[in-house]
Order: sequence, then C-alpha cells, then structure tokens
Amino acid sequence: MNHIVVTGGAGFLGSHLCRVLLERGYRVTAIDNLSTGRMATVENLTAHPRFTLRTADVTAPGAFADLAAVTHIAHLACPGGPKATARWPVDILRAASTGTLAALDLAKSCGARIVVASGSEIYSESNLGPPHRPHLGNIGPASIFGAHTAGSHVTEAVARHYRGANVGIVRPFEVYGPHLWPGDGRVTASCCAAALRDQTLQVIDGDTRSFVYVADTIEAMVAMLDSEASGPVDIGGPNVVTLAEFARTVIDFAGSGWLEVAPARTTEVTARSPDLTHARALLGWQPTTPLPDGLHHTLDWMRTILRPQ
Ligand SMILES: NC(=O)c1ccc[n+]([C@@H]2O[C@H](COP(=O)([O-])OP(=O)(O)OC[C@H]3O[C@@H](n4cnc5c(N)ncnc54)[C@H](O)[C@@H]3O)[C@@H](O)[C@H]2O)c1
Repeated sequence: MNHIVVTGGAGFLGSHLCRVLLERGYRVTAIDNLSTGRMATVENLTAHPRFTLRTADVTAPGAFADLAAVTHIAHLACPGGPKATARWPVDILRAASTGTLAALDLAKSCGARIVVASGSEIYSESNLGPPHRPHLGNIGPASIFGAHTAGSHVTEAVARHYRGANVGIVRPFEVYGPHLWPGDGRVTASCCAAALRDQTLQVIDGDTRSFVYVADTIEAMVAMLDSEASGPVDIGGPNVVTLAEFARTVIDFAGSGWLEVAPARTTEVTARSPDLTHARALLGWQPTTPLPDGLHHTLDWMRTILRPQ
C-alpha cells in the first residue's frame, strides 16, 4: 500500500491533499505543528483508519522518527499567508531549510518520491511574464514578504542540490477555496470575509494574480507525486486577473461589500503569471475550475465559518 507523509497536513493545501489521497487508498501520515494549521480542517479525517496526525515540528529532531515503508512525501510544512509571513519570518526560513532537508533525508532513507512546494513568489518583483523566464526577480530579503520569497528560493535550492532522492518541485500561484481562514491575510480570504461582513475590500491598484482553485491544485500535486518529473512546475489558474476585478466579482456574488483600490507600494508584487507549459506537457494537467464556480464554493465555506456560533 502507498504510504504518504504530508508535512503541513493540517494546513490549507495539506488538508485537501490528505483527504484526496485517502480517497485514492493511500495510508496518510500528516505531520503538523498546528502553527497556522487547524484541527478543524482535518477533523473529518481523524477517525479514518488509514489516517494519522502527528503533532510535531518538522524542524525538530525526531519529527520523522519511526516512520516505516513511506512511498511518497508531500512537503508543505511552512507557515502560509501574509500574516504568518510578517509574524514568523524565521520559522518560515527554518521550515524551508531544516524542514526541507529533514523531509529529503526521510525520502532518501525510504526511497520515497517527494514533492516540495515552493511558490509564485519565486518570480517576485520581476514583472516579467513566462517568455522571459527563468529570470527570477529580486528577493529583497529585508522586505515584509522577504522571508517568504527567500524561503521559496531556499526550498528549491535545497531540493535541487540534494542528492539521492526522487524530488519534484511545484510552484503554486494564488490558490483559493474552502479551508482558507479570514484572519490569515490572504487576498481571497480577506476579500470574501470582508464582502460577507459588508465591509470594504481593499486591493492594490494594478496588482494581478493567477487564481487557481484548490481542487485543481491538489490534482496537479497528485499528478506530480505520481510522476518522475523534477520541475519546477507552475500551478496556476486559467487567467490572470487584477485584484480590483477579482474583488468586484466577490462583491457581486456575495451581494455585499465595498471596493477600495489603494495606490501601489514599491515593494508590492504587481505581476505574477504562470507558465503552464510544463504542467500540461509533464503532468497532462491544466486548471479546469472557472473562477465563478470556485468562488461560489469558497464563499459557501466562508459563510459557514463566519456564522455566529
Ligand atoms: N496556498 C497557496 O496559495 C500557496 C501558494 C504558493 C505556495 N504555497 C506553499 O505551499 C505550502 C502550504 O501552503 P498552505 O497554503 O497550505 O499554508 P498553511 O499555512 O495553510 O499550511 C501550512 C501547514 O504547515 C504547518 N507548519 C508550519 N510550520 C511547520 C513546521 N515547522 N512543522 C510542522 N508543521 C508546520 C502549519 O501548521 C500548517 O498546517 C507552503 O509551503 C506555502 O508556502 C501555498
């Protein structure tokens, strides 16, 4: 039987990945320190006979001790979202360096296929689209999102240069869907929560994102786990949209909320567009969920968590 270790298994992406892999017959061991992850996202999995949640920090010695017959690893443990980036920059760098190395060591010792998540911030501030890649932008380690950007570079560098493991790298773009939480500062969560509360949706002028629905993202990750591809593979949405456009759609669907477009700051990323060529060629994957459908599911989820208890 396939046995996968999902680090960050109680997080946004990890919780969806764990569920999908259980449905596919895997034995799943999630390892999570519950820093940004929440039990609520995996509560419906804990009774599953093939699911185990180990509460541990992947950067601590012994986090992966006594794990046997591991066939796959998805390394997603890293505090995600702008609020976490501002609050825990060093934890992000530790997860990217020590955590990725520990996950790779486990992969090597078990002969497991490992997929690590980097992100679209790899392209930060480059303002250049796919034809100009592999230009990787400016890191600006001291900027507010510096740890996150540097963390993605570190994760990829460690994964690239490590010898003796079968590694694949994915670069998700702006993933959205159920299991996002209003307080984490991510654009989708913030916009949906503000709209449902009939508050102001603040977005940056000219900022664009490639929104990709979580189910599509997980499908790409599973395809990457199943493949021998090393990547990096961009996982993005079908269209790049401005945040103002996105916020207007959210307001429209929610039937409430107000839009405020703030002037761009110099450190803000203004253009992130994925190159889906590799995803199509290597994984036979492309995003299929239209933004309106994905947004409806996301708003439905957000309504359930914003409902007064
Ligand atoms: N969601 C996105 O849009 C997106 C985009 C690009 C990249 N990524 C990357 O994908 C990965 C997962 O993102 P996410 O959105 O699910 O974030 P998330 O914060 O929801 O999930 C990360 C999980 O890792 C756990 N974690 C953090 N540090 C840990 C540690 N040291 N040991 C054990 N567990 C730890 C957290 O508690 C959380 O459950 C991250 O590396 C993130 O940078 C996500």
